[in-house]
Amino acid sequence: MAETGRDIAKAAELLRSGEVVAIPTETVYGLAANALNPEACVRIFEIKERPFFDPLIVHIRGIEEVLRYAIEFPPEAKELCQRYWPGPLTVVLKKREIIPDIVTAGHDSVALRVPAHEVTLNLLQMLDFPLAAPSANPFGYVSPTRASHVEKQLGSKIPYILDGGPCRVGIESTIIRFGGERPELLRLGGMDTRILKETLGEFTESLHQGSNPGAPGQLDQHYAPLTRFILLKTGEQPFPIKGVKTALIRFRDYSTDFPEQDQYILSDTGDLHIAANQLFAVLRETDEKGYGQIIAETVPEVGIGRAINDRLRRAAAKGISPE
Ligand code: TXA
Ligand code: MG
Repeated sequence: MAETGRDIAKAAELLRSGEVVAIPTETVYGLAANALNPEACVRIFEIKERPFFDPLIVHIRGIEEVLRYAIEFPPEAKELCQRYWPGPLTVVLKKREIIPDIVTAGHDSVALRVPAHEVTLNLLQMLDFPLAAPSANPFGYVSPTRASHVEKQLGSKIPYILDGGPCRVGIESTIIRFGGERPELLRLGGMDTRILKETLGEFTESLHQGSNPGAPGQLDQHYAPLTRFILLKTGEQPFPIKGVKTALIRFRDYSTDFPEQDQYILSDTGDLHIAANQLFAVLRETDEKGYGQIIAETVPEVGIGRAINDRLRRAAAKGISPE
């Protein structure tokens, strides 16, 4: 069983000796190892049961470290990072030799991010290497936003969970790739895309590219609960099936045609940031309560709402989705 605690020095010591440790970030908990140690990184893939074609994000302590790991830092990437790091932004840049192939799945680019979490920033300060860390969940399952989520699923496989409290943002970072003709948005996440437009002007969206294992990340079916999961469009009526205990996940208010105790509201004030913060915890809770099916409604497709809907669609890709 993993020990859960707030001992940063202990986490640092384990990481130095090549162990894998769960760490808090503002988005979700990560499963971290020394990014410059290929054997330690292989352990991440084993523990997560993650396919080797899916590359890892490398967490660094500040913008001044970018050129240690990337060959170039285009001005528009730099501007974006200056504005939003530490924060839920990951940039993909041409990599230097020092980053092992296992981290980038053999690609010539590396994903870098400075997390906005004091505990992990302090940890990075104590280390003389960056941390490769995917979300700390079994591959394809919902990402963890509490130390207890990690403990439940991966507790038997790692020695230590560094507890930083509940994650503030609650969904993963926004990923942008640089180095092509235009910046490319690869994953919707904790950053509002309106903010991206403001800083970058033009960029292309290359979302949902990854049912092709050749292209990194973004598998269609991901973030998925084990229970049958159905996604409704906003305003569409839920259709309970007789004899099947059903949970209903809604954005802001209760449906009058459904038992209230089986309804889960993401934000009763209609705040999309709160909804993002609650999303994965609610998916886990409903998945663990023994429901026969979970029905969810999309949220307004604006700002961070796009990233929430993206996660809901992927969760539903396994079940029956009307979209
Ligand atoms: O918020 C987050 O980003 C969290 C926390 C722990 O930092 N991490 C996270 O990692 O969500 P993960 O492994 O669940 O997602 C990493 C994704 C990959 O699936 C891939 O889409 C993208 O990052 N990625 C990593 N390296 C890449 C590269 N070289 N080129 C393109 N995409 C890359
Ligand atoms: Mg993940």
